Amino acid sequence: MLQQTNIQWDTDLIRRYDLAGPRYTSYPTALQFTDTPDSVTTLSKAISERDSKKPLSLYLHIPFCAHVCYYCGCNKVVTKDRSRAEPYLQTLLKEIKLRSEELGNDVQVDQLHWGGGTPTFIDDEQTTRLMQTLKEAFKLRDDDQGDYAIEIDPREMTPSRLKLLRELGFNRISIGVQDVNEAVQIKVNRVQSLEMTTDLLKEARQLGFRSINVDLIYGLPLQTEESFAETLDRILELRPDRLSVFNYAHLPERFKPQRRINADELPDALTKLAIHHQSIEKLTAAGYRNIGMDHFALPDDTLTQHQDDGTLHRNFQGYTTHSQCDLIGLGVSSISQIGDYYLQNSPNIERYTQGIESQGSALTKEYCLNEDDKIRRAVITRLICDFQLDFADQSKTLNIDFKAYFANELKLLEPMAQDGLIHLSDAGMDVTAAGRLLIRRICMTFDAYIDHTEQRFSKII
Ligand SMILES: C[S@@+](CC[C@H](N)C(=O)[O-])C[C@H]1O[C@@H](n2cnc3c(N)ncnc32)[C@H](O)[C@@H]1O
Ligand code: SF4
Repeated sequence: MLQQTNIQWDTDLIRRYDLAGPRYTSYPTALQFTDTPDSVTTLSKAISERDSKKPLSLYLHIPFCAHVCYYCGCNKVVTKDRSRAEPYLQTLLKEIKLRSEELGNDVQVDQLHWGGGTPTFIDDEQTTRLMQTLKEAFKLRDDDQGDYAIEIDPREMTPSRLKLLRELGFNRISIGVQDVNEAVQIKVNRVQSLEMTTDLLKEARQLGFRSINVDLIYGLPLQTEESFAETLDRILELRPDRLSVFNYAHLPERFKPQRRINADELPDALTKLAIHHQSIEKLTAAGYRNIGMDHFALPDDTLTQHQDDGTLHRNFQGYTTHSQCDLIGLGVSSISQIGDYYLQNSPNIERYTQGIESQGSALTKEYCLNEDDKIRRAVITRLICDFQLDFADQSKTLNIDFKAYFANELKLLEPMAQDGLIHLSDAGMDVTAAGRLLIRRICMTFDAYIDHTEQRFSKII
């Protein structure tokens, strides 16, 4: 399956259809998750019903950061007190051992991701201990063929630390950069020299990390089209394998540190659109594939290859190549996807600790998919990964008559076809070059939990 790679920028369409909407890292989205009445029973039910032959994708959340970045919307605890890590680590180790007892210690881990917060907040000994516990608890691959990734804040990294991470089995890193412009960095309290990022990237390559991702954010204070062009140029010189260019989500009522950002200094909606447009043009001109939404990858990256093969997948970690795995979330706020269940640990560190220590589970939210959810999840996943649907293929895979099952949705898609977001035919649908940017809106058509009477009237970005 060959992907259409070009994107056509149509400001009028973007403004009319908006960029707002779920990111579909799950379907149904987290809004549908409900409070768990009995977390122990739910967890053991999900594990006992799971297909035990499926390999695992493990996500570990380490929430601590030594500094606060004002834009940050992640689940984190900002502290200079490094001793806070040990009690948390003890609970995390306990959770790992408990899940291993239930899942079996012979299940292969194809994907591992340490995220945060800043996973490198913990020291070398703690990092080694955590990885050793994982190796005892599950079957980690020793052939370097798994995708074992860690998020790295360059300000928290040394060459010896990086070497240790490689020796412990990590082969991918994700580096937080956001912007290289110093004035922007000062405004968001994240001053990080380009030299620091460059050195880290070079060392990582020398050590044999096979995939390097860089995170950037557009929409930060003082950013202009020109300043962000400069940031993109500097980062492109480093040629990371993957790039995430996130749209800054300014929600100061929800994320306290964002209150320290002066809203008057944020680029306006038109400037943001222009920066977004420019990012796509520059990155595609430099040879990157826009995998979807904020994600870009080089042609030989596995994300690009899986998109070409039609085997790309999407879950809480964004676009991924590991569709065959059950996802086990470990640590505060982490989310698991086990068979037909979504299970989320408490986002509150005290409640998380108390849950694991007292009953071995810290789940506070759950969702079990019904038959209709499973069908819609499959359709949305294929659409957001492939940007096309073949109705006959879908009918066969999902054991439904696609056109009859989705008769209402196909009607809702007609105005989108008239507006040039999609090509709709008797045989299937293709997202057009102009529609790719609005993929969330197109996916929303298949979302049973959205009131479609309001879909066309949501606000412009
Ligand atoms: C957990 S952080 C990365 C690891 C490490 N803590 C660091 O900052 O380098 C994950 C990424 O989320 C993105 N991010 C955080 N807050 C955001 C926000 N409000 N809007 C958009 N992206 C955001 C940033 O690009 C950040 O690198
Ligand atoms: S961006 Fe990273 S380092 Fe900064 S506060 Fe958020 S999680 Fe911590």
